[in-house]
Order: sequence, then structure tokens, then C-alpha cells
Amino acid sequence: MAERINRRVFLGRACWAIAGVLAAESAGALGVSLRPFLVQGGFGSKLKIGGVDEIRAIPVGTVVPFAEQRFFLSHVESGFIALYRKCTHLGCVVPWVPDEPSEDGLAKKGRFNCPCHGSMFDRFGVVHAGPAPRPLDIFPITVEGKDVWVDTGAAIQRSGFEESQARKV
Ligand code: FES
Repeated sequence: MAERINRRVFLGRACWAIAGVLAAESAGALGVSLRPFLVQGGFGSKLKIGGVDEIRAIPVGTVVPFAEQRFFLSHVESGFIALYRKCTHLGCVVPWVPDEPSEDGLAKKGRFNCPCHGSMFDRFGVVHAGPAPRPLDIFPITVEGKDVWVDTGAAIQRSGFEESQARKV
């Protein structure tokens, strides 16, 4: 009897141990993917946003907010775009809404919804609805050595999306 209980206890603990290891591994993987990028410097300057390997690991279709630096890094098929969060209508801050239906073919969900007058933008920053007269402005992205930089002091206006606007990393 004692042996059966010990075996049962042992098996139970073994199951919990395995579950714990799996949970820790999942949490670790999640932690890596959700870890905020640590950027030194503020809006208006040229900022090192991360290492090439770190940025390259962001999946296509993902939009990463850089709140303090006032832009979103969007990974589209042709590369990365740094989208200025300022609405091109009257300048409101445009949030990324991951649960809204997508306006592009890269993913089923996610778009930018301006809270002021209803403009909607896709992952490319292209306007799909509302009074905004042009796509979200973009910032130049450069690769210097093993680092990726975004120049938030050099916003570029555009009339649409072209693949040349996206930077391969
Ligand atoms: S400021 Fe964004 S729609 Fe008017």
C-alpha cells in the first residue's frame, strides 16, 4: 500500500514537474517575444532601436509600438517601416488596435484607428477610411554595423506605399 501511494505521489509530482518546465519554457519564449525594446534617446533624434538579429526576429505582420519614441515598427513582406503615430488629418495620436479587423492581407487582425475623426490605416500606414489626406508619415531606417537605427527627426510624407519605403534588415 505504502509503495502504491509513493508511486502515485511520485507520478503526480513528476507530472507537475513536467508541467512546470513546459510552463517556464513557454513563459520564457513569450517573455522574449514580448520584451519591450530598450531605446535610449527621445523623439526627434536618431535612435538605435535594437540589434539586427533582434529586429529580424519580429514576424512579418507584427506591429511593435515604440511609445516614447512616437512610432510603430511594422514588419511587412518587403521589410520594416517606421510609422509616425501622428494622424495626417489633424495630428491626433493614432493607436494600433490589434483586435480590429485587418485592412491589409498580411494578417487577419490589426489596424490603426484614429480616435478623433475615425481615420483608419493599415500595417503599411495607408489610409482606408476617414478624413486623413495621406498615409502615416515614415521615418528613415538604417542598419549600421549590427544595429538598427530610426531617425525620428526626419519624417517623410508620402502619397501611398511603395516597396522602396520598407527597409530590409
Ligand atoms: S486627427 Fe485623425 S482623423 Fe482627424
